[in-house]
Amino acid sequence: MNFLFLDALNCRNKGRIPIWLMRQAGRYMPEYRALREKHLFLQMCHEPELINEVTQLPVRSFGMDAAILFSDILLIPEALGVGLHFNDSVGPVIERPLASSSDIASLPRIQAREDLSYIAKGIRLLKGCLKVPLIGFAGGPFTLASYMIEGKTDRTLRKTKQWMLRDPASFHHLLSLLCECIIGCLEMQIEAGIDAAQIFDSWAGTLAWPQFHEFSLGYLQKIVQRLKTRCPVILFCKGASAFTQELASIHPGAISFDWNANLPALRRVLPANIAFQGNLDPDILHASKSVICGEAARLLNGLRGDPGYIFNLGHGIHPDTPVDSVRALVEYVKEFS
Ligand code: CP3
Repeated sequence: MNFLFLDALNCRNKGRIPIWLMRQAGRYMPEYRALREKHLFLQMCHEPELINEVTQLPVRSFGMDAAILFSDILLIPEALGVGLHFNDSVGPVIERPLASSSDIASLPRIQAREDLSYIAKGIRLLKGCLKVPLIGFAGGPFTLASYMIEGKTDRTLRKTKQWMLRDPASFHHLLSLLCECIIGCLEMQIEAGIDAAQIFDSWAGTLAWPQFHEFSLGYLQKIVQRLKTRCPVILFCKGASAFTQELASIHPGAISFDWNANLPALRRVLPANIAFQGNLDPDILHASKSVICGEAARLLNGLRGDPGYIFNLGHGIHPDTPVDSVRALVEYVKEFS
């Protein structure tokens, strides 16, 4: 078993810096595209054998130091009955987006252990074969609420923010309901064997500072408090560097930063017992090998010897990333000393 990732998450890594990449199992890999020709994305998420196979692809091809469960944050909204499909050109589509507080009131109560049991089955299969730690995950309440209201990816989140400001009580009701589903889903993943959990509150960075406190942070705190004694929790919000102090104040195991942050400088303001992850710009992987290694070296030199640093991108790998660039990056980070 390779413990580098878990040691770093516990801020006591004395070996080389571990690496894994967000969206490491995805369309940039020819083996993934071959499987996608035979199955729809959602079928792949629902089928334990395929969850097992796809999760392992990047670990086998590149020697990543951690595996992230192949799944999606939108499986909780799907279980809540709002209808979900993935369209190759527009991405995820919620078929019946929430439009009124009565839509929230009529959402069913779900039990992760029953309604999302296929995820636990996939985790159990993986734990029988992986030689690296397995990261489970879920979306953050604000990010899931925004998908359920917008119905698709819309970076302005205008409908969501207008609802939040017009009727904060029903918006909080939705966030509380989602928070319980997320905790239930992650407890199920912990019982099935994940070694760490990452919360993707990807769109919380669109919030103003007091809104972030009210509509994201309090719910993230509840999730961290309920889970942290059972498994380390990593928080990822796009734009998190503006909220570093707030995120640190809820004592997660680690914070994952996007590429805006000056990571070596942030390390100096983060408490030493919080690990941190990131933050290479995924676009760098479209540059030449020497630029990729030069940018990786800048980060690695700035954080050399830090016992709580995990190398990653600032957000997911783009589907058109050259596979040889990913290989070159991982080799470079693993050989750096
Ligand atoms: O990191 C990994 O390899 C683990 C798997 C993973 C996926 N989605 C697989 C996926 C994870 C951690 C996610 C999280 C996720 N899903 C987030 C939060 C992270 C982020 O990117 O901010 C969000 C917002 C989603 C919702 C989602 N799923 C979107 C917006 C899309 C479309 C984007 C795209 O690349 O087309 C997806 C689809 C998706 N999720 C794919 C994969 C491998 C591509 C689907 C395909 O094969 O067509």
